[in-house]
Amino acid sequence: MTAWCAANTPDLVVVGPEVPLVAGLGDAVRALGIPVFGHDAATARLEGSKTFAKDFMARHRIPCAASLAFTALAPAEQAIRDWDYGLPIVLKADGPAAGKGVVLAGSKDVAMDTLRAFMAGQFGDASRTVVLEAPLVGMELSLHVLVDVDGDHAAYAMLPPCQDHKRIFEGDRGPNTGGMGAFGPIPFLSPADLERMRRELVEPTVEGLRQDGLRARGVLFLGVMWTARGPELLEYNVRFGDPETQVLMELLDEDLAEVLLEVAQGRFRRESLRLRTGCAVTLVLAAEGYPEGARKNVPIPLGRPEGVTVIHAGTRMTPEGWVTNGGRVLNLVAVDRDLQGARERALAAVSAAAWPGMQFRRDIGLRALNHAAAGRTVADPFL
Ligand code: AMP
Ligand code: GLY
Repeated sequence: MTAWCAANTPDLVVVGPEVPLVAGLGDAVRALGIPVFGHDAATARLEGSKTFAKDFMARHRIPCAASLAFTALAPAEQAIRDWDYGLPIVLKADGPAAGKGVVLAGSKDVAMDTLRAFMAGQFGDASRTVVLEAPLVGMELSLHVLVDVDGDHAAYAMLPPCQDHKRIFEGDRGPNTGGMGAFGPIPFLSPADLERMRRELVEPTVEGLRQDGLRARGVLFLGVMWTARGPELLEYNVRFGDPETQVLMELLDEDLAEVLLEVAQGRFRRESLRLRTGCAVTLVLAAEGYPEGARKNVPIPLGRPEGVTVIHAGTRMTPEGWVTNGGRVLNLVAVDRDLQGARERALAAVSAAAWPGMQFRRDIGLRALNHAAAGRTVADPFL
């Protein structure tokens, strides 16, 4: 890819996923003098190494779960025997493990088995270092921040907080997926709540990058758990979230390429981004058999769903029309005045895109809608 960039000199390169960022694609293309939206490899360790991220959080006093890191089996086993932070015990492989490197172990026995599998190399070297972490309880949300930090220049802008729905079935049951839908902003988060996340999570992160001499030219996606104590950081991602980004792009009322270019060229000065009013919802239409597998080559009689944006993910065009070609096949994205309106608009469009065996969730954003309708705030349990 670097050779291709050298030959074709694009005006802007956006590196999407974390693996090439961790491998240094951003650094390599930037070294050609081409603007890159995407962090240096050194900064991408915030996602690429859980121990690096936890050390960063501790050093910069960012609220997060208590944790211990191990590279040898015997002391880790002892820590599980002595564990008194409550259940589940959260085990994290240090390195990237294709989304499978975090296990919430409901018992010490399960934690012990997971630990041994990780350290025996279930994910190669990525799982030979293991972090044990105390469980955080609360409401999970996704906070995306555009960051441009280089030397003494430090600018950032937060995007609206979103919520993903990871489980395959309604009511948050069944196995984890890449995400079955998302919405944003979260209606009952007040301006004061957003300000608190800025002060307690985002500012110490940006200032920490600056102090540590880490250049950041891209997006940081903070996985946040809003606990009884307030917002705490679960993890950093150094890329955009999917399906949160489907929501964010619909809400963003800016020239995206221009915004990304400003970050890539280190001349980002904005403190906020212009947004459309209202709320966006994305529904993921998934293949039969997902997430264990995905039934491919099933025809999708895609009509013209009204009032939504249709985003293709796992589709393929054949002479006879569209067919399924992956787990998460299509996204329907709707915007409306509020969460209820956006949900209704998205759900109304499903039948025009449906195919036999398709899976989707009708309850994307429903819990938040009920929470808001009951007049509850983020300080109340999110049930
Ligand atoms: P990750 O693979 O790092 O994105 O983490 C996967 C998911 O595990 C997160 O989105 C959380 O839902 C959950 N998780 C991670 N750490 C904790 C924790 N300390 N307490 C509770 N849940 C957690
Ligand atoms: N939606 C979660 C992620 O992209 O990791």
